[in-house]
Amino acid sequence: MTSAGDDLAGNGQLMRVAQRTGKRISITIDGREIGATAGDSVLAAVLTHGRQLRELEFGGSPRAGFCLMGACQDCWVWLETGGRIRACTTLVADGMAIRTSGSP
Ligand code: FES
Repeated sequence: MTSAGDDLAGNGQLMRVAQRTGKRISITIDGREIGATAGDSVLAAVLTHGRQLRELEFGGSPRAGFCLMGACQDCWVWLETGGRIRACTTLVADGMAIRTSGSP
């Protein structure tokens, strides 16, 4: 798991301008554990650690969300427990396990 300060490191597509003070939790993306702050969207948590959320089903181009407000469906990901979520409008939960590819 990365440390809280990693969110400020600038390695992801998004960079926090200030440290959040919420509870630190961890989630898993395609088997890789990352740190997040309670209250983050899944998309924000992923994009503070990397450059993309997933690859497009049609051609494999990198995707990082588009509208960021639940309207475009560019950020669909799948929970390991089943079900599809919009990463931009779903808040992280401690221990949440996510796959970035799956059956629509
Ligand atoms: S980025 Fe558009 S629905 Fe999530």
